[in-house]
Amino acid sequence: MQTITRLDMLRSEIAALRRGGAGSGAGTGASVALVPTMGALHEGHLSLIRAARGQADHVVASIFVNPRQFGAGEDLDAYPRQMERDAALLEAEGVALLWAPAPEEVYPADYATNITVSGVSAGLCGADRPGHFDGVATVVCKLFNQVRPDMALFGEKDWQQLAVIRRMARDLDLTQPPVDAIHGIATVREADDVAMSSRNAYLTPEQRQNAATLPRAMRDAIVAIAAGTPVGEALDTLRTTLLANGFDSVDYAELRDADTLEGLDHPGGNARLFVAARIGGTRLIDNMALSQAGLPRP
Ligand code: PAF
Repeated sequence: MQTITRLDMLRSEIAALRRGGAGSGAGTGASVALVPTMGALHEGHLSLIRAARGQADHVVASIFVNPRQFGAGEDLDAYPRQMERDAALLEAEGVALLWAPAPEEVYPADYATNITVSGVSAGLCGADRPGHFDGVATVVCKLFNQVRPDMALFGEKDWQQLAVIRRMARDLDLTQPPVDAIHGIATVREADDVAMSSRNAYLTPEQRQNAATLPRAMRDAIVAIAAGTPVGEALDTLRTTLLANGFDSVDYAELRDADTLEGLDHPGGNARLFVAARIGGTRLIDNMALSQAGLPRP
């Protein structure tokens, strides 16, 4: 695996990859899948890489802690950076190229362009983190243009992010219909059901233990809604449970349509539960389909 930090090198190495393989790319030789990350890799990221390897001839992973998606007072400086460890993990998974540009390679001093995706980026994390999804859409659009992959893979843990990226790719003609080249991959969970996240590393052992209340309370709410409890009542119980079990605040607990992200006050075929809650300074998010939650875990 080669680690590349300059765009001209990236372009020539990707051209070489495409020429080298037998080829299932869209008329361009071997196919290339992109897995964008901000590093601090965990099993969730590695599941994206494995899925990518199953679908494309070559996998390009990117590691870039994107300053434009962090708001004032957020954890840009504290965000875990562990490039050597991450590179070793990616190499062991068979990644062909690691694209790890410096901030000035991505955003030169006179950089002036911003992408805003309205609608799906409103509410949920968009309400608590103004500008966050502009930053995500902007960097992902740049990554797509830099790598020009046949497909890109993202985790469903950041469901709203996935919706924003899909809408941006569709609106800006970045993919080639009818092939939907943006793949969402199911959330990977720890043994106690907590969704894997680079930010879990911020939690103290006690906070980490309390974090397991989040998926448990979500599954309880889903079971209650399926049994006929009104949505508002089930979500109130969810909030109360989190606050009684070590969470300091609940940013949102909402039922929304999985595709449009419009709010729902009743369970429908496509309903999904979205929660963000804080323990100490750490904000945890999770989401689950109403149809998939099954029985609560012990
Ligand atoms: O999910 C992430 O790690 C980031 O938001 C992404 C998609 C790599 C863009 O910086």
